[in-house]
Amino acid sequence: MQKPAQTLTAHRNEEQVSRRSFLARTGVTAGGVLLETSLAASHALAEQKSDQAIIGPDAVPLTLRINGAVRTVTVPPHTTLAEALRGPLDLTGTKIGCDRGACSACTVWLDGIPIASCMLLAIDVAERSVTTIEGLGDGDKLHPVQAAFIEHDAVQCGFCTPGMVMSCAALLAHNPNPSLDDVKAATSGHLCRCGTYSHVFAATLAAAKANKG
Ligand code: FES
Ligand code: FES
Repeated sequence: MQKPAQTLTAHRNEEQVSRRSFLARTGVTAGGVLLETSLAASHALAEQKSDQAIIGPDAVPLTLRINGAVRTVTVPPHTTLAEALRGPLDLTGTKIGCDRGACSACTVWLDGIPIASCMLLAIDVAERSVTTIEGLGDGDKLHPVQAAFIEHDAVQCGFCTPGMVMSCAALLAHNPNPSLDDVKAATSGHLCRCGTYSHVFAATLAAAKANKG
């Protein structure tokens, strides 16, 4: 992941240099007040662009709100939220499967909404609140969806499970009385290589029922 950011920075630097070179060449060949005024304005714009801070490729300090706690990490700006969680934050419950937004294994909540954390840069989280599988339960007490997954044997290898649980728990938080189709829709982006889908659906519907009882 280091190379693309360096490449991007290098590209930006080249872009600035080529703009400056172009303006310098224009200054040599152009004459007249109007062109000089235009040239001055262009120089000012070029100066302004060069004053803009380029973030990275070195690591930058970030303050994140994770599971109700304020955490500080220092990571390169191209670090995804999933990488920051699993790396410096040591929250390895969030899994990385495809690392490109196709499997939903990395699902966490951002302000209560399930998102693919491999598709969001940690630097772009800013003030928003992140909830991971580690923060879903209440201390040692499992979230009802977690308990129902165990009860209904909705876990095989477990790789997709944290992401599945986060999406199912978000569904119940927003719709306490979901239909089977609602559960299917909520988990439709999740790939389970072990084929636990029917158990996941049963577990989620049972958790919803238990919440009402
Ligand atoms: S790891 Fe993020 S969607 Fe697959
Ligand atoms: S339980 Fe193995 S991938 Fe879903």
